Amino acid sequence: MKKLRFLTAGESHGKALVGIIEGVPSGLALTVEELHAELRRRKLGFGRGARQKMEDDRCEILSGVRHGRTLGSPIALMIANQDWKNWSDVMQAESYSGEVRRKLEVPRPGHADYVGGRKYRHEDMRNVLERASARETTIRVALGAVARKLLAELGVGIGSRVTRIGSGEDTAPVTTAVEAINAIADASPVRCLGEDAGAAMVREIEAAKKAGDTLGGVFELLVSGLPLGLGSYVHWDRRLEGEIARALMSLNAIKGVEVGLGFHAAATPGSLSHDEFLVSEDRNGLSSPTNRSGGIDGGMTTGQLLVVRAAMKPLATLMSPLRSVKLATGEAAEAHVERSDVCAVPAAAVIGESLLALVLAEAVLEKFGGDSLEELCARWEDWNRAVPPIRKSPLP
Ligand SMILES: Cc1cc2nc3c(=O)[nH]c(=O)nc-3n(C[C@H](O)[C@H](O)[C@H](O)COP(=O)(O)O)c2cc1C
Repeated sequence: MKKLRFLTAGESHGKALVGIIEGVPSGLALTVEELHAELRRRKLGFGRGARQKMEDDRCEILSGVRHGRTLGSPIALMIANQDWKNWSDVMQAESYSGEVRRKLEVPRPGHADYVGGRKYRHEDMRNVLERASARETTIRVALGAVARKLLAELGVGIGSRVTRIGSGEDTAPVTTAVEAINAIADASPVRCLGEDAGAAMVREIEAAKKAGDTLGGVFELLVSGLPLGLGSYVHWDRRLEGEIARALMSLNAIKGVEVGLGFHAAATPGSLSHDEFLVSEDRNGLSSPTNRSGGIDGGMTTGQLLVVRAAMKPLATLMSPLRSVKLATGEAAEAHVERSDVCAVPAAAVIGESLLALVLAEAVLEKFGGDSLEELCARWEDWNRAVPPIRKSPLP
């Protein structure tokens, strides 16, 4: 059984989103403001739709925390949907005899509508859209904020930046400390570190919007302060990059994940793909002059910076709709159109941070255990003293 588990529930225009996270040790200081800080970051980014302005994403802690500290019991969170008041008849749980508004009858290519409708036998594909929507990721960010706080107590920092939107690219390597990346990225309209590259990405989004089109892109996640040895090589389902890829691929619209050199390594010789070992200056452990592996070897963290990238496809709801079919009549029709983002890569990066935090917190608890934070911290410190991480090196 996983040492840290979570579940979410809630429809996009339903009453509320709810989440439960189980396995968080006792004694972790946690405030609702810390959850709100991450939820505000999820709303960032040029190219989002009107929904972001409407939702305040206020989170309520329903259980598992008392007087500002976790109890070790399941933590339940709830975020009310402000838009619910406009959809209460469409989304009500009780049976409804009036005319059903907002039916989804023409599936959007690239969305879950058609396949989900056939699979669950929903004639009205609204039943699919409501749960397939990335609104659900709001509660995952709140749950991820709990995991992030646990990691922060251990000195683990997580940051992200957008490296591509459409054909606009930020190729500059990261020279900033992980702890400082988010302050720079969050101040950019597209969460990009380079100003010129950011301006080019904004222009791309403006052009796509004008054309009724959408854009995807790439974001990069960086994690510092990890110990050597999270994850394992001994069995396939314990390899950490497998867990990371799974979590990121579970994020709506993500189509690719890479660690370190990633796909680039496929076209690079071995002599330029690996991280040579050097004796570290203090002769305690090893150092490496590079970090091409992105901080994972053999499914285990090396203790160097963890570097993960994810590719997001362009969103499926186009204001200039693609060709589709009205299922009830079998006639050709334009795909369903609904309020939508033009580009959500900046938000996806923040959600990616949260999902990575959940995976890493689980890996930490799997390795070190501990019912209380005190117990966990003591085991963490013992390990880092006994087995130092491979010394930090510049990217990549
Ligand atoms: C932050 C975020 C916002 C999104 N916003 C939209 C949107 O406004 N319109 C849309 O069609 N898809 C949006 N998506 C993508 C869909 O949720 C996703 O394409 C859909 O669930 C189908 O899943 P798949 O793309 O993984 O196959 C968004 C995804 C994320 C991560």
